[in-house]
Amino acid sequence: MCGIVGYVGREECTQILVDSLRRLEYRGYDSAGIAVFEEDKIKTVKAKGKINDGLVKKLKETEHLFATAGIGHTRWATHGEPSDINSHPIGNGRVSIVHNGIIENYRELKSFLISKGYGFESETDTETVAKLLDYYYDGNPLEAISKAMNDIEGAYALGIIFREHRNKIFAIRKESPLIVGKKDGESFIASDVTAILEYTHDYYLLEHNAIAILDENGIKFCDVRGDEIQKELQTATWDASAAQKGGYKHFMLKEIHEQPTAIRNTVSPRVKDGLPDFSECGLTEEKIKSYRNIYIVGCGSAMHAGLVGKALIERLARMPVSVDIASEFRYCEPLVTKDDLVVIISQSGETADTLAALKLSKRLGADTFAIVNVVGSSIAREADMVMYTNAGPEISVCSTKAYAVQVAFMYLFAFEIAFARGKLDETRCRELTEKLLEIPDAIKKCIENEAAYQFVASKIMNADSLLYIGRGLDYSLSMEGSLKLKEISYIHSEAYAAGELKHGTISLVTKDTPVIAIATQSALFEKTASNVKEVKSRGAKVIMICAEGTEVDSSSVDYKVELPAVDELLMPLTTVVPLQMIAYYTAVLRGNDVDMPRNLAKSVTVE
Ligand code: F6R
Repeated sequence: MCGIVGYVGREECTQILVDSLRRLEYRGYDSAGIAVFEEDKIKTVKAKGKINDGLVKKLKETEHLFATAGIGHTRWATHGEPSDINSHPIGNGRVSIVHNGIIENYRELKSFLISKGYGFESETDTETVAKLLDYYYDGNPLEAISKAMNDIEGAYALGIIFREHRNKIFAIRKESPLIVGKKDGESFIASDVTAILEYTHDYYLLEHNAIAILDENGIKFCDVRGDEIQKELQTATWDASAAQKGGYKHFMLKEIHEQPTAIRNTVSPRVKDGLPDFSECGLTEEKIKSYRNIYIVGCGSAMHAGLVGKALIERLARMPVSVDIASEFRYCEPLVTKDDLVVIISQSGETADTLAALKLSKRLGADTFAIVNVVGSSIAREADMVMYTNAGPEISVCSTKAYAVQVAFMYLFAFEIAFARGKLDETRCRELTEKLLEIPDAIKKCIENEAAYQFVASKIMNADSLLYIGRGLDYSLSMEGSLKLKEISYIHSEAYAAGELKHGTISLVTKDTPVIAIATQSALFEKTASNVKEVKSRGAKVIMICAEGTEVDSSSVDYKVELPAVDELLMPLTTVVPLQMIAYYTAVLRGNDVDMPRNLAKSVTVE
């Protein structure tokens, strides 16, 4: 939610800021803007709309800026509609800021500032911070920032410039992400490291309540009292090309194609001598044996990956697992105790509700284990144990490879738990692990079946509503398929447990309701096939996703998408490919912006 960048160095910075913002556009694209030091002034250019539609056009009409320091922002609107006036940077010529997060007490701050004679132009919570900094500023920026930090409640990452402190950027964060990049004679701030990979791989993680000061002499860190803090430089292993489209029309398509490699990178390093190995995070056999329950918590696709994990752990380890949506978990007084393990799944590692669920679980005494993609993210830093999913940057708002690696991770995790608790013998554990290592080849084969997915997309693109049905693991996959479709095609769809349809929802089925039936599990196949017949009798067009060679009754299935035959237990890893691809091609046929679907942003740092 919102992307922040900043640059101080020798180069003309407008282009650097705009290019860096482009790489953060997945975080929000309602408006964008920059503020730079120009002679003795702060010059701001900002506009409603995506970067190319608004900011870039406005910059072309603006008198050429020459500046070597400035801040930038791409917005996902929370307080106030997308508009030029609500765009960031926000300030008054003396101080200017970019903000990611929510200022919870902005109403009180606003009343206070109005009582001090300040007027407000925008509807944003951010403007209260800009005005508060101005109120406290009497020549000493650090003092103003410390005083403001004392008053502000909520989550924030802020880039701040003061007109009187030319070519200097101050940066602070609480809950919202912010990193500080370093290169010879140049420094950067960014919401995440992908924004600046083209310039540098070296960066510092900024701690809560620490202040970073960037100027022509380099970077300094201090606490709110102004005492200097020493920090360790980190190096990003992601390569700059990973955050580019690399010849694909969309990031989503590229990321679908990256799934075989991403899964290999997630699974292989965690297999030693043919068996899962979780020693890197400290999840020992003793700990695994001691847990009474496992809770898996996440949002959206990450939660859906957790549902696959639940089915696997319960089936293989015979141990109770609950899966919760983070925004529900945090307010439902969960029954978590010190005897439980709470597994937190998150691609970004910054999702506000998921982070809050993690903190709550820690307060309740449980061990917490984070499965995260972004290295050094808040969730990774907060959890007792962490393992990274090694998928590389995921840029498309619609999650594909991040979900695939989370699911792959769930397999390895389930094997480990079942083996450690004596429910899976060594031979079967080795056999399953081996099959998991081979799954990338089957996924590659699925991806190649593009014509089938394009055909299905052409059949559903004009539907008003769709149903996805399945049982067991296939039901979890139905939920993911349905989410993908509605997220990027804007067609309404619902995922339903196939056997539950007749308890109400089947009344929605008409000849205009395509039904995507997932039936990859032989033990449940006949049951799902009966439910398919029920919808077919009501006129539905049925698309069935099933394993290669499955015999299907052609009178109840209009079109069949076949998946390569792999061990049935592993079918979710291949099944997700047609679901992603069908959603992708449907969105493309409908002319939608696949990578930046309306109303969404990738990193959800507000609750
Ligand atoms: C769907 C999607 C979202 C995310 C969810 C959690 O395509 O991307 O549902 O899965 O917002 O995000 P993370 O994993 O970053 O916590």
